Amino acid sequence: MRIIEAKDYVDMSRKAADIIAAQIILKPQCVLGLATGSTPIGAYDRLVEKYKNGELDFSKVSTVNLDEYKGLDRNNEQSYYYFMHKHLFDRVNIDKTRTNVPDGMEPEAEKECRRYEDLITSMGGIDLQLLGLGHNGHIGFNEPAEAFDKETHCVDLSESTIEANKRFFAAVEDVPKQAYTMGIKTITGARRILVVVSGEDKAEIVAKTLTGDITPKVPASILQMHSEVIVVADTAALSKMPR
Ligand code: F6R
Repeated sequence: MRIIEAKDYVDMSRKAADIIAAQIILKPQCVLGLATGSTPIGAYDRLVEKYKNGELDFSKVSTVNLDEYKGLDRNNEQSYYYFMHKHLFDRVNIDKTRTNVPDGMEPEAEKECRRYEDLITSMGGIDLQLLGLGHNGHIGFNEPAEAFDKETHCVDLSESTIEANKRFFAAVEDVPKQAYTMGIKTITGARRILVVVSGEDKAEIVAKTLTGDITPKVPASILQMHSEVIVVADTAALSKMPR
């Protein structure tokens, strides 16, 4: 595992974008695993800048997103499909038919999860998976549990997640109760993983994830077992790492 320290959020975003850009330059037809959330937005902005400056070509790149709310329409501003188009896909020359997000409107969970796993396999697996880190160590929607969930699956969102998300919706009834997410095996099947983390509020979980026990109670701790993990974290997020 390589830990790259960035000065702050802007520097973290620049470094993460450089790593993603290097992947695209090395293999123009690469498969990128992508994440939503607030942390990668700066890196997506930098990638758009690189595209606009003529430094980067997305035309052969394929993507698979980590997760999506079940029951949310693509046009819903809170859907991850919407997020990805807004922050990246609509701003670069990616072929949209090569971009993939779990289908939140597929009611049959088993069918959608199988389809998504098969899709990733048919694409030849993920070259570089981008991950953010939840305060409780979650990656994707893989929340702390007694065992690692392996493949793409449907999760029931915890009360605290529903509570935290309700500010984005008109009413609490509108907040999705379930989500589709790649599993731990799907994520760690990526040939290389890039984790981005920023802010002091993540410092404790960063230290736990990177130096603590490997346990499903801290899902991201499994990343210690992967041979090609790069963590780009700012000084604040690394402030509780044992020196
Ligand atoms: C996003 C995702 C989540 C986030 C995590 C961190 O697709 O799967 O696991 O990466 O919740 O979110 P932020 O970056 O908002 O702190």
